[in-house]
Amino acid sequence: MQNDDLLEWGPALVTGVEAIDEQHKMLVDMLNEANLRMRSHIDRSVTEDIVRDLMSYALYHFETEEELMLDHGYSQGSPEDASKHLSEHRDFSRTVGSVQQDLIAGKPITREALLGFLNNWLVNHIMHTDKRLAAFLKGSQGGSA
Ligand SMILES: [Fe+2]
Repeated sequence: MQNDDLLEWGPALVTGVEAIDEQHKMLVDMLNEANLRMRSHIDRSVTEDIVRDLMSYALYHFETEEELMLDHGYSQGSPEDASKHLSEHRDFSRTVGSVQQDLIAGKPITREALLGFLNNWLVNHIMHTDKRLAAFLKGSQGGSA
C-alpha cells in the first residue's frame, strides 16, 4: 500500500460481525478524511486534532471488541488469539500515545509516516486479527453475530 493511498472499504475488510464492521468503516472514513485534510493543510494543531480524534475512537472501538471477547469467553476458547489480539490493541495505543507526546513536544510527524502507520496497522489488524475474532464470535453464536 502506498502511504498516500486512500483506504477502500470492501469485502476484504468485512468481518461479518455487524457491530465491529460498522466501527471499522468509521475508522476507514476517519483515516481517509485525515489523509485528505493533511494533504491540503498541515500544521501541528491539525495533526494533534486528527491524532486525538482517532485515538479516542480507536479506544472506544477496542472496548467494543474487548467486551465481545469477554461476553463470549474468547480468552478461554482461544487463549493465544485473545492475548495476541489484546496486545495488538495495547501496542497501537502505546504507539499513538507516543506520537501524541512527540507532537506536544514540538516534534512534527509527516503525513506519510502517520498515515502509513495507521493505514497499514488497521488493514493488517482487521484482515488477520479481527477476522479471527469474528470467526470465533460467529461460531459461538451459531452464526447470528
Ligand atoms: Fe481488534
